Amino acid sequence: MTAAARTARALRTAPAPSPRRVAARGAVRALVAAAACLAASVALAQSAQEVQAGRAKAASCNVCHGLSGLSVTPDAPHLAGQPAIYLAAQLRAYRSGARRHEVMNVMARALSDEDIAQLAAWYAAIRVEARPPD
Ligand code: HEC
Repeated sequence: MTAAARTARALRTAPAPSPRRVAARGAVRALVAAAACLAASVALAQSAQEVQAGRAKAASCNVCHGLSGLSVTPDAPHLAGQPAIYLAAQLRAYRSGARRHEVMNVMARALSDEDIAQLAAWYAAIRVEARPPD
């Protein structure tokens, strides 16, 4: 008997998985998928809460950075749509004094890590559209 024929015979005689086993595997897969969905929706709800908390805390920033993160003072940068990781890093740098600016050092001094995460989430969640000149 050739090797190919032996393989073909082994495949033919291999026991098929029992229907119960197949059903159990399906149930496990469905459970794993449901758990992943749940985890994703919990994360989404958490970040939506973070964004709303940040929006409330941004009340003290609006006078310079604008209601929706588009700056209303000529020397303040736009914050809308900046990556949260960048915004949080800048706020921590102002807080520690690693980045120096008279106003921002004072503003950031009072912020906790949670405040920074929420403010960064808020400004990052604002969608901006850029239209370069023709
Ligand atoms: C009185 C005006 C004023 C207020 C109020 C203010 N900022 Fe600023 N902010 C500025 C100015 C001016 C700069 C630019 C500073 C510099 O050159 O480093 C700045 C810079 C920043 C930057 C760095 C942006 C970048 O592109 O690097 C962040 C982040 C920021 N502000 C967040 C905040 C947050 C959050 C608040 C409220 C808690 C706040 N600011 C309140 C004036 C203000």
